[in-house]
Amino acid sequence: MSNNNIQIFDTTLRDGEQVPGCKLNTDQKVVIAEQLDALGVDVIEAGFPVSSPGDFKSVEAISKIVKNATVCGLTRSVENDIKVAAEALKYAVKPRIHTGIGTSESHIVHKFKSTQEEILERAFAAVKYAKSFVEDVEFYAEDAGRTDNEYLAKVCEVAIKAGATVLNIPDTTGYCLPSEYGAKIKYLKENVKGIEKAILSCHCHNDLGLATANSIEGVINGARQIECTINGIGERAGNTALEEVVMVLKQHPYLKLDTNINTSMLYGMSQLVSDSMGIYTQPNKAIVGANAFAHSSGIHQDGVIKNRETYEIIDPKDVGVTDSAIVLTARSGRAALAYRAKKVGYELTKLQLDDVYANFLNFADRKKEINDNDIHQIIETSKVYEQIISA
Ligand code: KIV
Ligand code: ZN
Repeated sequence: MSNNNIQIFDTTLRDGEQVPGCKLNTDQKVVIAEQLDALGVDVIEAGFPVSSPGDFKSVEAISKIVKNATVCGLTRSVENDIKVAAEALKYAVKPRIHTGIGTSESHIVHKFKSTQEEILERAFAAVKYAKSFVEDVEFYAEDAGRTDNEYLAKVCEVAIKAGATVLNIPDTTGYCLPSEYGAKIKYLKENVKGIEKAILSCHCHNDLGLATANSIEGVINGARQIECTINGIGERAGNTALEEVVMVLKQHPYLKLDTNINTSMLYGMSQLVSDSMGIYTQPNKAIVGANAFAHSSGIHQDGVIKNRETYEIIDPKDVGVTDSAIVLTARSGRAALAYRAKKVGYELTKLQLDDVYANFLNFADRKKEINDNDIHQIIETSKVYEQIISA
C-alpha cells in the first residue's frame, strides 16, 4: 500500500444495515459482500456478531467467501463480544476485530457512568484481548467528534500500546465542521505517541450533510482509511457515501490520494444495495441518482450536446452509467429535440425542426416528460411529416 492510498472500509452490512426496517438475510449479505470484494473495497465490515445469531451466521458466511478484502466484525469493549467476533471471523483470510468504547464526556458520564481513567483501562484491555485472537485490531473512540482532543490523544496512545493497527475517529453524531474534523486528525497525527504504528480512520455521519466533506478533510490531514456505505445509507441521516468519497478523490488528482475501487462498478453496486434493502435512492443523489447525469433545461442541453464537459465533471461511463440523458420537457430547446429525434431515427432540417418544435411545445405543456414514443407521435402529427419521411 502506498502512503497515498486511501483504504476503503465498507460498513454497508453493519452501520448501513442499521437503517430501520432494512434487515438483510444472510444470502443477500453474501451477494453484496461478493460484489464489494469485486468492487475493490479494502475492508468489509460484515456485522456485529454478538448482536444476534443471524449476524453471527452472516459474518461467518462472508468470512468464508471473501477472497481479497479484510473481513471485519464489530464489538463493544466487552470480552464476550470479542470472543464471539473472533469465532465468527475464524474462516476469514484476513480477519479484523473492530472494538472500542465511547470517549466523549457525554458517553462517559451518561452511558457508562464512568471516569476518563476507567475508560482508558477498558480501551487497553479490549484491544489487548482482541490481539490474543487476531493480529489486525481496529479501535474506535465512539463520539470522537465531540471528544476533547487532548483526552482523545491519550485514548489513541493506550490503544496503540495495546497493539491497535487502526484508530477509528468517528464523528458519531455528525456534528463536526470539516475544518474541525480535519484539525482533529492533524492534532492526533502530531500529538499521539507511536502514531506511526497505526493508521487513522475517518468514520463520519451525515446529520448535518457534512459526512463526505469531513472524510475528505480527514484524509487531507493524514487519515488513511475512510469508513463509508453504498448510497450513504445508515442510521438517522446515514454515513459517508462510498461513491462520493471515491469520486471526489478520483476527480481531484492533484490531492494525490487514490483508492483501489473499480469505479465503473459504482452504479451497479448502488442499484444492488438499493434493491436488496428496498431503499429508494433520491433522484438527485450525487454520482448514482437517476438525475446525476440528466439534463433538462435548454441551455444545459445545448451545452452538453456540443461538449459533454460543459455541464458534466464526471464521464458517466466512469461510474457505470451508459450515457448522459437529455430529458425532454417544456424547458427543452430545439437542440435537445433534434438530438433526441435523431436517436429515434429522424434527421430534421432547420425548417422541419421549427415546425416539429412548435408541435413539441404543445405536447410538453401537457406532459411532464416526453419519451421516445411521444417523439414519434409529435413528428407524425406535425405538418412536415410527409417531407420528413420522403427525405
Ligand atoms: O458511529 C460510530 O461511532 C460507530 C462506531 C460503533 C464505530 O459506528
Ligand atoms: Zn457509525
